[in-house]
Amino acid sequence: MILCLRSLALAATALACQPGGGADPGASADPDRMLASGMTARQVIEARALHFKDLGGSFKAVRDQLATASPNPSLVRLATQEVKYASDDLPGWFPAGTGPETGVEMRAFAEVWSDSEGFAEISTRFRESAAALHATAQDDDLDAARSQVRAVGEACKDCHDRYRAEED
Ligand code: HEC
Repeated sequence: MILCLRSLALAATALACQPGGGADPGASADPDRMLASGMTARQVIEARALHFKDLGGSFKAVRDQLATASPNPSLVRLATQEVKYASDDLPGWFPAGTGPETGVEMRAFAEVWSDSEGFAEISTRFRESAAALHATAQDDDLDAARSQVRAVGEACKDCHDRYRAEED
């Protein structure tokens, strides 16, 4: 059964394991269970980590540029656009069944799902502030961008303070 569930490469394999295969149908925490998206919880969790790495890189690029005396406008536009896209997508990175109950290593707290209203509220603030930041970049308004980048950074921090564990 373990082997069967570990072979996560093929949806068909995992599905084939379920009926009568000894897989516990109540094992909602099984990280190799197929979710509605066609990905396993483990795959979603791994993809989420990659999305956040990208977001971290894009946001750092924005901040680094804006900290210089003469930022590169096209780089700022591009990087703020990536932050904006990420902010649009972020709620979808946390589907039900991809929390700590899976046993997969992560920094997300279970409160992401149990306090989904609070999480959605900060996600919305992030989305709105990231869209505003991108708009300032499109206007090449660097002063406005410098002030808006702080609002976005606060949304990152507020969410991390409440829903993300400290690094080990
Ligand atoms: C609405 C909540 C929320 C917002 C907004 C948010 N994050 Fe996160 N972030 C998380 C959670 C939760 C995790 C942990 C995910 C996991 O471990 O599965 C995370 C993880 C990360 C990681 C990966 C850390 C690691 O070591 O695994 C980076 C980098 C990151 N966030 C950067 C950012 C940046 C930069 C912003 C803003 C531009 C941001 N985040 C906005 C909730 C948020």
